[in-house]
Amino acid sequence: MSTDERTGPAPAPTGPLSRIDYSERIPNNVDLAGDRRLQRALEGWQPKFLDWWKQLGPALPTKDVYLRTAIAVGRDGWAHFAHVPMEQYRWGIFLAERDPDRVVTFGKHKGEPAWQEVPGEHRAALLRLIVVQGDTEPASVEQQRVLGNTAPSIYDLRNLFQVNVEEGRHLWAMVYLLHAYFGREGREEAEQLLKRNSGDLDAPRILGAFNEATTDWLQFFMFTYFTDRDGKYQLGTLKESAFDPLARTCQFMLKEEAHHMFVGVTGVQRTVERTAQLMAAHRTKDILAYGGIPLDIIQKYLNFQYSVSMDLFGSEQSTNAGNYYSAGLKGRWMETRRKDDHVLIDATRQMTYVDGGELRTRTVPLLSALNLDLRDEYAADCAAGVKRWNQVLEAAGVTERLILPHEGFNRKVGAYAGHHVSPAGEVLDDEAWHARVDGWLPGDADRAAVASLMVPEYEYGRFAGWIAPPRTGINDQPVEFDYVHLLEEGLV
Ligand SMILES: [Fe+2]
Ligand SMILES: [Fe+2]
Repeated sequence: MSTDERTGPAPAPTGPLSRIDYSERIPNNVDLAGDRRLQRALEGWQPKFLDWWKQLGPALPTKDVYLRTAIAVGRDGWAHFAHVPMEQYRWGIFLAERDPDRVVTFGKHKGEPAWQEVPGEHRAALLRLIVVQGDTEPASVEQQRVLGNTAPSIYDLRNLFQVNVEEGRHLWAMVYLLHAYFGREGREEAEQLLKRNSGDLDAPRILGAFNEATTDWLQFFMFTYFTDRDGKYQLGTLKESAFDPLARTCQFMLKEEAHHMFVGVTGVQRTVERTAQLMAAHRTKDILAYGGIPLDIIQKYLNFQYSVSMDLFGSEQSTNAGNYYSAGLKGRWMETRRKDDHVLIDATRQMTYVDGGELRTRTVPLLSALNLDLRDEYAADCAAGVKRWNQVLEAAGVTERLILPHEGFNRKVGAYAGHHVSPAGEVLDDEAWHARVDGWLPGDADRAAVASLMVPEYEYGRFAGWIAPPRTGINDQPVEFDYVHLLEEGLV
């Protein structure tokens, strides 16, 4: 690599408003230097964050990693790539540019100017929304902590670390809002975000899916595809918020999130590609002996991650969701593109539920079913990836296909909780469910089979046998580029 690649962020090419100030201890585009109190408070939180990163961030020792850093928040040229030691990554506070004319686009404040401060009556609800979102960001870093030890390639290792540093930055994004707008309570919540830990029995992360261990790379790819995508949809609703600093924060986070979606969709696709090659070459589904992950195990992983991610949307019917909407705190996905009154007082929709061993539908007020509205958008997006993976199977001449399970499959939250629904959408009694569930969800033997293939491949340009190489590298670099320099002798 050339020396300039090691020098860190280059000057931003866009206008002064979108510039990020890297001369500060905490890089930011919110004029942190102009608010000494806030600056000192965040500088007090910074070492605690770095301690947390050291203890619960990536476990594999590295010298440096080819990472993307945000340098501007404008449309073009927002990121810079360079090899940086991970602990020196410049986590900072980046908000999308402010639109001085922005108005609230939905709910009872529709048409009023967006809020630059938190209204007293919505303080508790906004605080809760920010804390729940903030809690998921460091959780995923904790969940993925040991994956570097079994990376299928240096290319994949770099992508894992990129996702990790950006989830760390998303924590910064939420902590900034807590410190800047919620006083002492906000500062206390910011401390708690580092004290709760994924899977901790005494102080677990807030949401269930963020306490499940990410055991292997297939699960990591499923996680970035399905669970990061939940994050994308939640951010999409907060991006519409009447509380302008939250909206601008989420707008920029969504930009970073796109890479996480990419890691998921291509990761699963490359796994399926290798599986399909082995199935075609050996004319069998049983390809574990040939070093590939059998398609039925991939399907089980998909079933698991999709169903736990569906639970993240909460109950289909929720008074809170309706109240958040009417108050202007949280909009719908693509709110401004919806062709209705954006108040929804009289609007209704259909909802599926289980009754007497059957799936039925009923009409419910839309305002009370906004979690379901968002979940439907999410499910449609998830289906697009499955279609793409099936094209890989088709191209390889394999007749089997992956499916997205029914929305009621393996659910612990909402209308389906307490019922058994098969991936195909049949309602089952206890006995039928227990007789078949091993064929639908990964068990110990499936996880052990996958784990047996998870051997690290740290040679530049080489890939573990269970996954196909990507078509192209990152930021126009070749696939065999030295994306990561490991710390061990002989590998650096
Ligand atoms: Fe995130
Ligand atoms: Fe993410």
